[in-house]
Amino acid sequence: MNKKITIAIDGFSSTGKSTLAKQLANHLGYIYVDTGAMYRAVTFFAMQNGYINVDSFDKEGLINSLPNIKLQFKFNADLGFAEMYLNDVNVETEIRTIEVSSFVSKVAEVSEVRAKLVEQQKEMGKDKGIVMDGRDIGTVVFPNAELKIFMTASATTRAQRRYDELVAKGDTVTFEEVLANVEERDYIDTHREDSPLVMAEDAIEIDNSHLNREEQFKLVLELVNEITKTI
Ligand code: DC
Repeated sequence: MNKKITIAIDGFSSTGKSTLAKQLANHLGYIYVDTGAMYRAVTFFAMQNGYINVDSFDKEGLINSLPNIKLQFKFNADLGFAEMYLNDVNVETEIRTIEVSSFVSKVAEVSEVRAKLVEQQKEMGKDKGIVMDGRDIGTVVFPNAELKIFMTASATTRAQRRYDELVAKGDTVTFEEVLANVEERDYIDTHREDSPLVMAEDAIEIDNSHLNREEQFKLVLELVNEITKTI
């Protein structure tokens, strides 16, 4: 049997990282970890506890409360992936709103938040056989991952995808709002001091503006097979 490897998938928001990661994990029998969900859950906690709103962000308050945040993924067999739990409550729906999206980059800039989540992510991947997606997986969390993918697509393509998803869920948002959010997050994610979004030197870039899910999956699966043959 092939040896298990670590697959790191990084890239801009709404590039379809989680779709690809889920497909790979299901096919390979690997664990899938959506690290964006962890940053979103911390953001939701900050909103619930009044540490962040449209006018202010009490970073110190959030930092002091970090020991009170317990994050867990629990596999949902019906959905075929693990859902995010914050302090034993399923927050999978709550963390996907445009409100959380509008605050999450600010929370993800806080080094103490990153340190806590990165430690937990490293622990989850210690036995390999994992597909993890995020912004700093190939650079910070698993710098020795056997396969690193960096996904890109134009901001308009990505905003359209996110808009369609939100509308399908019944959210009342405009395309312009979603595009502005995608562009703002791109800016903050690539300009923050701690672990900015950059492509790892040894990552393989995939621009999926013109690739469908199956084409993309096939392409990456071939890369996985090549690597597992040689180790
Ligand atoms: O992948 P996503 O859109 O759900 O991620 C939400 C936010 O979390 C994104 O704006 C940047 C941040 N993030 C991060 O800084 N590092 C990660 N490893 C994952 C997400």
